[in-house]
Amino acid sequence: PTPHSAWPWPAFIAHRGGGRFAPENTLAAMRTGAAAGFGMVEFDAKLSSDGMPFLLHDDTVDRTSDGHGLASALDWRALGGLDFGSWHGPDFAGEPAPSLLSVARYTRAHGIHSNVEIKPTTGHETETGVAVARAVAYLWSGAGLPPLLSSFSESALEAARTAVPELPRALLIEGPVPADWRARQQGLGCIGLNIDTLHADEATVRDILDQGATLAVWTVNTPDRARELLSWGCHAVFTDELHQVRADAPGLAR
Ligand code: G3P
Ligand code: MG
Repeated sequence: PTPHSAWPWPAFIAHRGGGRFAPENTLAAMRTGAAAGFGMVEFDAKLSSDGMPFLLHDDTVDRTSDGHGLASALDWRALGGLDFGSWHGPDFAGEPAPSLLSVARYTRAHGIHSNVEIKPTTGHETETGVAVARAVAYLWSGAGLPPLLSSFSESALEAARTAVPELPRALLIEGPVPADWRARQQGLGCIGLNIDTLHADEATVRDILDQGATLAVWTVNTPDRARELLSWGCHAVFTDELHQVRADAPGLAR
């Protein structure tokens, strides 16, 4: 088999929806990724205080909205009153809080595949893993190819697995790939790893692929680096540079 046979999703993934060209993890970001020709988007999902799955990277809303506080302390009504676009620029003023529901509708309607990164507010790993997995199963039911779930949190992945075992999962690795990566990945029933480009040297990449795991690398922001990783057999790269690192860029055709 080719090194890519186990990865059914596209090889180019728009990081946080629209990379650096839109406010991360919003519907506007998904529109930006789609307009740039991406067939797959990655985004971060967590829970409001009343259990609504929505998109947010940080524990708090402070950096990416005009509000303040922990996501886990704000209910969906409070989040609905915030502006998630103005921090990025005036073109995006008034961008609403992105529910997982609205993003599922948009990506499915446009035939775009998803990587749902489960990003629990600290201390809420298990409930977030369960709720996001259940929501994904419901919102993407009948989709030809399900979203890939991923997380840095092994508790969240374990909870997602228990809740909806059939959804594909990848273990995200922060920092260097640990020596026991294979045992951890297999113990969680994950299909593979998503690792940091800073730690994706050729020997590490080839070891992971030789052992039959899928491998996606974040965040890859030059065409040369994308070309190198894909030539080693990596299944996919996440990028913020939507106009440079893409399937139709010179030398990157897949
Ligand atoms: O899922 C890949 C990447 O998004 C992980 O890092 O911090 O951007 O969510 P982060
Ligand atoms: Mg992410």
